[in-house]
Amino acid sequence: MFTKEGSVHVLKVTNLTKRFGGTIAVNQVNLQINKGEIVGIIGPNGSGKSTLLHTITGVYQPDEGTIEYRNKEITKAPLEEKARMGIGRTFQNLRLFKHLTVWENLMIPAIQLKKNKKEAEEEAKELLELVRLHNHIDEQAQNLSVGQQRLLEFIRTVMLNSELIFLDEPTAGFHPNMIQNFLDTLLKLHARGKSFVMIEHNIPAIMEVSTRLIAVAAGEVIADGDPKVVHSNPQVVEAYLG
Ligand SMILES: Nc1ncnc2c1ncn2[C@@H]1O[C@H](COP(=O)(O)OP(=O)(O)OP(=O)(O)O)[C@@H](O)[C@H]1O
Ligand SMILES: [Mg+2]
Repeated sequence: MFTKEGSVHVLKVTNLTKRFGGTIAVNQVNLQINKGEIVGIIGPNGSGKSTLLHTITGVYQPDEGTIEYRNKEITKAPLEEKARMGIGRTFQNLRLFKHLTVWENLMIPAIQLKKNKKEAEEEAKELLELVRLHNHIDEQAQNLSVGQQRLLEFIRTVMLNSELIFLDEPTAGFHPNMIQNFLDTLLKLHARGKSFVMIEHNIPAIMEVSTRLIAVAAGEVIADGDPKVVHSNPQVVEAYLG
């Protein structure tokens, strides 16, 4: 559980591989996420970032490799089971209850989790204020802007008691002036002990909040470390331009 640096890893992925027919979308990936990190994942379109997230979070089963969460092997556990363990996620193509209201989208999963209703309501109100959706409580999710829908999906995973939260392009489709609000919310939740892994094409945004950066190209991790060092790594620059 303790790494070389003495930090506690919550997630350890070893030799993870996911194929679609002849396409190797994720190729022998090794990575570790430590408690309290905000890990950014960058890489060109089609490089396997979403597939990596799907395979870790249980949307897909890996073809090879293992996944450990808090020292327990969870390689083949499905999405719902991993969610119950505290692994939350959002989707590049949102998965909200489109016809339900903002409030229902937060409270229905919370009640299924058998959260105390009053406490869940307080938590939902606070999270809605953080992402400035408190004036949209009774709107149907489908009537929100894409950015607002992403924020709603984001706080929904917090309502589900997620401790390690995977975000797939959380600021895609955002109005530029909403990005800072999202980043501030993420940092507040981070300060409360949540860990994050975030795929993002918005480089300034990811550089602002990431404590570590992982670069992926053609299904492989090509750099992993200090965000500035990874971002200026010649192989990473080449992968983006090439
Ligand atoms: N369900 C699927 N069936 C077949 N091939 C797939 C499937 N999902 C992804 N792929 C392929 O796997 C590779 C990686 O795709 P993936 O969506 O993981 O990339 P990505 O890095 O998330 O890209 P983007 O930045 O555009 O979101 C691509 O070649 C893609 O076409
Ligand atoms: Mg993707």
